Amino acid sequence: MKLAVNVDHFATLREARAHTEPEPVLAALLAEQAGAEGIVCHIRSDRRHIKERDLHLLKKTIKTRLNVEMAASDEMKKIALEVKPDVVSLVPERPDELTTEGGLDVIKFQEHLGPHIKDLQEAGIKVSIFVDANTDQIEMCHKLGVNLIEINTGVYCDTKPDSLERKEALDDVARAARFGHELGLTIHGGHGLDYKNIYPILEITEFVELSIGFSIIARAAIVGVEAAVREMFFLIQ
Ligand code: PXP
Repeated sequence: MKLAVNVDHFATLREARAHTEPEPVLAALLAEQAGAEGIVCHIRSDRRHIKERDLHLLKKTIKTRLNVEMAASDEMKKIALEVKPDVVSLVPERPDELTTEGGLDVIKFQEHLGPHIKDLQEAGIKVSIFVDANTDQIEMCHKLGVNLIEINTGVYCDTKPDSLERKEALDDVARAARFGHELGLTIHGGHGLDYKNIYPILEITEFVELSIGFSIIARAAIVGVEAAVREMFFLIQ
């Protein structure tokens, strides 16, 4: 399984003082050196952390793959077509949310998403959809022509360890991953994963890559980026 590291919160820290440091690009390079096989960031419409400048610099400097999470808006599509990241991950966005709150409702927004996805793909960008562990939603992703999805692990991560709710949420994620894999989709996972709750997720063999941000960055603040990334990298091997 591969590790993709989300560097958003280096930019959050930078913006806390409207400063120039810490530099998310430097963190991304260190993460790659410690085993990350992809770099992820989320450009939000309020630019609360990652900005266009970060995307351009990341695209120019990193050696693995750049996956940019964004809303399926015209403004974001324009940015994607300029930056041309390796992957665009379409996510829902609510202005005052603390973090992404769930998967994109591809059934509700199918008419808008169809041409939006096509425009990105025609520009040579691979499109992923962040989706809840729901087979109807995953089937619609397939119908919309993407071949990559990221299953939301956040519901599982929000449950209490050893609870029935956790077991049920894990079963949902495993079932969804299997279903997507059977449809021929490449399956990524992410949201809320940390150094403890990741273990059962590692048993789900359909996952090709996990996207992890907050827990790694929180640990990096104490032990440094390379140590925090390397520890997660060895966990998920
Ligand atoms: N995947 C998606 C689609 C996300 O929006 C985020 C958070 O930006 C992550 C994964 C990473 O989540 P976390 O920061 O909780 O590891």
